[in-house]
Amino acid sequence: MSRDKSNLILTGFMGTGKSTVGRIAAERLGFIFVDTDKVIEQNTSKTINDIFAEYGEKYFRQLEKEVIKEYSQKREHVIAVGGGAVLDPENIRDLKLNGLVMLLKARPDVIYRNVCKDKSRPLLQCDDPMGRINELLEARRKFYEDCHYEIDVSDISVQEAVEKVIEIYRREE
Ligand code: S3P
Repeated sequence: MSRDKSNLILTGFMGTGKSTVGRIAAERLGFIFVDTDKVIEQNTSKTINDIFAEYGEKYFRQLEKEVIKEYSQKREHVIAVGGGAVLDPENIRDLKLNGLVMLLKARPDVIYRNVCKDKSRPLLQCDDPMGRINELLEARRKFYEDCHYEIDVSDISVQEAVEKVIEIYRREE
């Protein structure tokens, strides 16, 4: 593998399975798994919902950026970042320094199915979550393009997604 791409980064919209796929991929590769949202929750002893409610999205984005900066410098980590991390080009730049960035993509209906019962995502707590998903996907489209690889997970299982991720990662070796 080109030695400067030691980490495997999973990005993509909410509900595309970054954490589930990332955790299994990390086990397979013998890497450490990190979910940046979980790190933020541990560091602050607050949930993502509470951080958004008490301090707002802007503050959350600062915390997210600090965590990304820290973990971008590690090696042999699988890092799942929150779906909005791509909005700051510095985050992607940091992550790319040491990592191969893979985008997990899914159709809006699949995303909706995966997130509709989950109340842990403040941006989707509204009267029309499907409308919000479409809106955010459109607004973020160009940011999601700035990654090394894309994998459409709409019609594949978690296990198949893991296989694809690992195959692409190993191809870089
Ligand atoms: C967000 C995605 C969430 C979390 C926060 C904001 C976003 O992470 O970081 O609720 O802006 O898309 P997941 O993508 O892991 O759900």
